[in-house]
Amino acid sequence: MLYLVRMSKTENSLSPALITKGLKTRFVGQRLIYHPTLTSTMEVARQEAQQQAPEGTVVVADQQTAGRGRLQRAWLSPSGNIALSVILCPSIACLPSLTMLASLAVAHSIEAVTALKPQLKWPNDVLVSGKKVCGILIESNVRADKVDYAIIGIGINVNLRLEDYPEILSTATSLSHELKKEVSRLSLIRHLLVEIERFYLTISAGHSIYEEWRDNLVTLGKKVRVKSGDAVQEGIAESVTTDGSLLLRRPDGTMDKILAGDVTLQD
Ligand code: BTN
Repeated sequence: MLYLVRMSKTENSLSPALITKGLKTRFVGQRLIYHPTLTSTMEVARQEAQQQAPEGTVVVADQQTAGRGRLQRAWLSPSGNIALSVILCPSIACLPSLTMLASLAVAHSIEAVTALKPQLKWPNDVLVSGKKVCGILIESNVRADKVDYAIIGIGINVNLRLEDYPEILSTATSLSHELKKEVSRLSLIRHLLVEIERFYLTISAGHSIYEEWRDNLVTLGKKVRVKSGDAVQEGIAESVTTDGSLLLRRPDGTMDKILAGDVTLQD
């Protein structure tokens, strides 16, 4: 049986004023667009970015009706979860680090708010107890080697009642499910915006976050199946490169560099 400790309405309400009040960032979240219901925060963020929204603009929805994930998949996004997108304007050199930045920022924020110890799964899933608790989607517009904008989309299963979604029960979890009590979305979002900006300033100053990302990847050293497009490969996830690619050791001993895909741990 699942017991949920109720928290006050204010603690779990997501008004822009509550999210931004005294927020300790220079620009991330200082302009925040909130909608109770949206198709996808990625759509609104893209429209905002195309209209020259200031860097750091954040779009938050209480729930999404057409949330989307990587590889053209749908993303479940009912009220109680976190769905947000952040507009950034990184240099082209920083672009590959956005996936590392986002997953590390999520992991740090979850740990700070809940004391759970999240792990990362290549390329950019965040896991708790071996199951997915957060998905990250990065979209960018690059013209003539210049990044017009990049959008980091983050979906976190916060107060998701898993028993209502049996289709994801074997692969996904939520923070409330792990802790047997509700978790403050407000607190998590505020931590997240601070962490995103901190990591973004780090990479923009030319410092690497690659080692911290690599060292937290639960994938490395494991036997994995990688699906990229129609191709499926098996092997040992030996390492990752500084641009975020996976190095897969095939059974015949050769190595493959995989830019994007979906990993299933075999062990
Ligand atoms: C994945 O793991 O497939 C990525 C999921 C990304 C979901 C987030 S929720 C906020 C933003 N809006 C969307 O429609 N998708 C991203």
